[in-house]
Amino acid sequence: MRLDKFLCKSTHLTRADATAVIESGDVSVNGQVEMSVSTQVHENNIIILDGQRLVPRPSRYLMFNKPANTLCSNVDGDYPSVFNYLTLPDICDMHIAGRLDADTTGLLLITDDGRWSFNLFNPQYHCAKVYKVTLRNSIVDDASTEIKPAIKALFTQGMLLPGEKVPTKPAKLQLLSSNEVLLTITEGRYHQVKRMFAYVGNKVRKLHRQQVGEITLDIPEGQWRFLTEQEVASANIVSSN
Ligand code: URA
Repeated sequence: MRLDKFLCKSTHLTRADATAVIESGDVSVNGQVEMSVSTQVHENNIIILDGQRLVPRPSRYLMFNKPANTLCSNVDGDYPSVFNYLTLPDICDMHIAGRLDADTTGLLLITDDGRWSFNLFNPQYHCAKVYKVTLRNSIVDDASTEIKPAIKALFTQGMLLPGEKVPTKPAKLQLLSSNEVLLTITEGRYHQVKRMFAYVGNKVRKLHRQQVGEITLDIPEGQWRFLTEQEVASANIVSSN
């Protein structure tokens, strides 16, 4: 990782303070003063600040049940940032793995381990994300209990969304009621779910993510918890599949 990130992970310095101490020549790596914040370092390197060897804190992984009208950004905007709900020290080290729109609710994963979030959300690894979708229009033909075949086929085969060069990967729809489905996708394109339903002439009224890979949301709205070791490890299983 970058030297400035290493300092943030092993002290209580902000990124700006870490930059200042590095650029003042107060940090050495394996016995040499290092003044470049972007130098790549490893946990096994001997990194010293003010005579003390720095040891990074273990990575943290948590789930949060995102309410509607909250933002997946580090700062408040039109709505409050989800980080306002996370009562943890050094929260600025952490990032959201797989953001949700302001009006989308449900499972958010938050960590300071960039490799882990890359594994979960890299489309190459086909990690399934399950959304409960409430639609404006019915998705079944009158008197039928099946999803309209033409719609099912488009989701299964993939659709070329406006402005894109590659069709969506096969997605799975499961009917809950005439205007409610569970949708499983393995990608995370910009506004993907809303755009897929717009493509078939419908509109998403409510969107709620309930599962990412092996990790299932099981806490009330507005609350967070640390992931279990098994949940953390499941991301590595996804990436080796
Ligand atoms: N797809 C969307 O359109 N919005 C989200 O928030 C997540 C997936």
